[in-house]
Amino acid sequence: MCGIIGYTGTASAVDVLIEGLATLEYRGYDSAGVAVVTGNGDPRVRVVKRAGKLANLREMLEGTWLDGTTGVGHTRWATHGEPSDRNSHPHQDADGDLAIIHNGIFENFAELRAGLAADGHEFASDTDTEVIAHLIGRSYDDAGVGGDGADGAVALAGAVRTALRRVEGAFAIAVVDRRSPDTIVASRREAPLVLGHLDGASLLSSDVAGLIRYTRDVEALLDDQVAILTPEGITVTDLDGNTTEGHRYTVDWDIDVAEKQGYPHFMLKEIHEQPGALHETLLGRTRDGRIVLDEQRLDDDDFRHLDKVYVVACGTSYHAGMVAKYALEHWARVPVEVEIASEFRYRDPILTQHTLVVAISQSGETADTLAAAAHARAQRARVVAISNVVGSSLAREADAVLYTRAGPEIAVASTKAFTTQILALELLALFLAQLRRAMFPDEWRDQLRRMETLPDLMEQVFGQETAIRQLAASVAHASYVMFIGRQVGLPIALEGALKLKEISYLHAEGFPAGEMKHGPIALIEQGGPVVALATAGHVRGKIVSNIAEVKARGAMVVAIATEGDTEIKAHADHVIYVPDVHELLYPMLTVVPLQLLAYFIATELGCDVDQPRNLAKTVTVE
Ligand code: F6R
Repeated sequence: MCGIIGYTGTASAVDVLIEGLATLEYRGYDSAGVAVVTGNGDPRVRVVKRAGKLANLREMLEGTWLDGTTGVGHTRWATHGEPSDRNSHPHQDADGDLAIIHNGIFENFAELRAGLAADGHEFASDTDTEVIAHLIGRSYDDAGVGGDGADGAVALAGAVRTALRRVEGAFAIAVVDRRSPDTIVASRREAPLVLGHLDGASLLSSDVAGLIRYTRDVEALLDDQVAILTPEGITVTDLDGNTTEGHRYTVDWDIDVAEKQGYPHFMLKEIHEQPGALHETLLGRTRDGRIVLDEQRLDDDDFRHLDKVYVVACGTSYHAGMVAKYALEHWARVPVEVEIASEFRYRDPILTQHTLVVAISQSGETADTLAAAAHARAQRARVVAISNVVGSSLAREADAVLYTRAGPEIAVASTKAFTTQILALELLALFLAQLRRAMFPDEWRDQLRRMETLPDLMEQVFGQETAIRQLAASVAHASYVMFIGRQVGLPIALEGALKLKEISYLHAEGFPAGEMKHGPIALIEQGGPVVALATAGHVRGKIVSNIAEVKARGAMVVAIATEGDTEIKAHADHVIYVPDVHELLYPMLTVVPLQLLAYFIATELGCDVDQPRNLAKTVTVE
């Protein structure tokens, strides 16, 4: 969702903010804005904001002199109020003394707005954020402790705490105020906010990527903590004003990982980073002859005695969960249900202390997945998190964590997070199989060895990139694309369709191949493209029959098949080959041509690949 950034130090705030917003723009790009405290003798908070992408704000700033060394910046994914200049952040209080940026939703804003309006407050936008700006402003005035410098900072932090005690919902906010010109006050509840410590300056950001240019010494703020940032350092309190601290750690990756490095788009770069990401995710997974998780706050017996696994996730992560079901059931011999996180807690699932809930989230901040995990824990179920972000909310709240080590994923369309999630989930399946004695040691060791070959095998798939690009040019102007698969091919068919629709806006759907004749086959038109997952395995013969059914009705079939399968050419118009692997490992290879196909179709159609319309990375609202 929205990206927020804040800086207080000695450099030009606006330069730092714009650079940070460029890194955070993947989180939302409906509008962008900054607020900077300007003027030494008589400080003022100046706000510059513009609907549309960051480029529009940059253009506006070119003719604007914004000196000042303290400020906040925002890039928006609209929730309340259409994307427009007036709904853009930052928002100000009634007197224009302070400005606030916000990621999340204040759920009781309508009630608060009505109360303030009854007292004569007028609002310039439709947003929930502006209501909180007014509420903080009023709390400040009511406390009657105005003043400059340190006193101003104390008063601002007090006003923020008072206001936040009245709000419901999920948020990360940052506030600047002319009465405390070198201070930012920030807080969060169920939305990410990371603080950056460095000499002579302090920073905040929605994620580490916004800070890493300046510091590796970061601190994740926890729910209902309030941070007071000045150039001299950061103090953290709870909502009652008692001193406390967040989760402080050192970042171990470099800024160049979060840059394009010569690729035209982050998505293509991240597709190509997958072999390396798989390799990293596999490193050091055994200790003393045992598979290990990254963090485990559970006893081995908790895993031994579980009788049911729920996998919960959203979007692409949900598709990784679908693949995991096959591995968990086959290797660990435990029944598994895979569920969309936003549905899970609303249907009263049966959860006990013997239930394991595996929550998958690249960002570790997706609101629905966090809520599903919290619901599971409240019912005494155990939660294992699969996340790509060390110290993310999901990782902190889970009983055990297995990290994907994909590095920062910037493109909105998830690629390297997906393949590393599958790998991590399959490692979890082997871990459970080992503890539950569902596999012999040489069996799980064999599987680990096979996994270690995946990075090299995946490199071979890139050998067909030119052919996939040519295929994309011929498919790009179709009115739809269908994807069909069976067994582990089904989640990949769904993922191939999701990837294509989200970045190219082409109508794409994935179907279980056996279901086609129960309805969807009616959609097939002469020459209509159907991509079929047809790799070797016990369902290959079945999928070939399904290919014949769509072919007989005029489909143009693209088969993803196993190298050496020349027979498939008799059934398909185009074949893309992947190397031969164990059946459960295929998804990590077969998805790569589909990611490339989606990418090349989107570029052929001139779409904004890294920032598709209506979307944002990290969905921190329900
Ligand atoms: C699609 C995509 C989304 C995410 C989903 C969950 O390419 O990226 O569908 O997979 O929003 O995000 P995380 O994994 O961060 O919880």
